[in-house]
Amino acid sequence: MSSDQKEAANVGVFTAIEHAEYGHPASVLRLVERPMSEVEPGPHDALVRVSKRPIHPGDLLMIAGDKRGGRAAPIPAGAPRTPGFEGVGVIEKLGSNAAHQGQFAVGQRVMFLSGMGRTWATYSKVPVTSLVAVPDEVSDAVAAQILINTMTAQVVLRAGHNALPVPELPVTVIQTAAGSSVMRIVTALGQKIGLTMIRLVRTRAGAELLEASLPGAPVIATEASGWQEQVRSAMGSRPVHVIFDAVGAALVDDLTSLLSDGGTVVNFGWLGTGAPDLSGFAPRGLAFKGVVFTEWMNFSLAEQKQHRDMAMQLAKEAPHVFAIAGEYPLADFRKAIEHASGPGKNGVVLLTSQVGL
Ligand SMILES: NC(=O)c1ccc[n+]([C@@H]2O[C@H](COP(=O)([O-])OP(=O)(O)OC[C@H]3O[C@@H](n4cnc5c(N)ncnc54)[C@H](OP(=O)(O)O)[C@@H]3O)[C@@H](O)[C@H]2O)c1
Repeated sequence: MSSDQKEAANVGVFTAIEHAEYGHPASVLRLVERPMSEVEPGPHDALVRVSKRPIHPGDLLMIAGDKRGGRAAPIPAGAPRTPGFEGVGVIEKLGSNAAHQGQFAVGQRVMFLSGMGRTWATYSKVPVTSLVAVPDEVSDAVAAQILINTMTAQVVLRAGHNALPVPELPVTVIQTAAGSSVMRIVTALGQKIGLTMIRLVRTRAGAELLEASLPGAPVIATEASGWQEQVRSAMGSRPVHVIFDAVGAALVDDLTSLLSDGGTVVNFGWLGTGAPDLSGFAPRGLAFKGVVFTEWMNFSLAEQKQHRDMAMQLAKEAPHVFAIAGEYPLADFRKAIEHASGPGKNGVVLLTSQVGL
């Protein structure tokens, strides 16, 4: 009997992807069955049957134990780790206190940050405080990728705002890896608040793809010779005090020539190779500011609500911002990871499982 058949027959197992050691995802990950007792909700939890979850670059870095993905805590013997930072699904069961809170109901669609109940599994046990209701107009494929990437985008925008010499528009910003899922949201939110964006991608093909799928700001390919001149021409006489960067590495050297003295590179990813030379930063008063999405938790509750509302609004009115590169059943996780890791991808790769078997 297959995993799905066993689940359908309700024989008390769920399917999960797990790893007992850090290493190359294709080598260390395996698909297993685990007892449902592991996800039995406590008084303040919900049991969510997960339908879709993204493969974030951070998921793959974390599985590999790469420091760019954050601190890899030791995996205790006999307690393998299931990846997955967020997901979407349907509430199947509510813990006793959670049921009395009345905010959520069995059968409701929710998205959530996983906490300890990782999402690369057909079921997650989730504290009700981590659940966010999904409006009918927002598809599962969009809802599955909203939380972390919009939080990251808001943290990036805030860091950029804080780096301005005067908090006044007009502001011109350069973005690297502009076709990435996070940067697409940064572009959309930045345009809403009146920023002028100049977008960099590494290939001409990527530039064409981005211009077609998210028009509205110039896109320049860094594989073209003289790309800095193209950027200067797009800048005109406007200074650039802030660069939003997800590539880091050797590209930082090229970027700083475009930045005004006293300017800041706001960096949230390290997709590139080679080491930057920061020796010219001090004489020009430049700053390199790393940010991480968890800083969003430090925003006030009113700001968090405002950001959530903005994210939902964006998902409803411009779902194409949350592009979907491909969807694969959990069992095909190796193919999905290959797709997620490869070049030329437009959007997020999702792992899927059926809801309501
Ligand atoms: N700090 C945080 O809290 C945080 C949160 C979320 C994400 N991140 C990081 O942010 C980055 C983007 O994440 P994402 O989910 O938005 O990515 P994504 O959707 O997987 O897209 C990756 C993009 O990066 C481009 N790219 C890959 N390697 C590149 C290189 N060497 N030079 C230039 N462009 C390159 C790809 O372009 P092609 O089309 O040319 O392949 C693609 O557009 C990742 O490094 C991720 O780890 C950090």
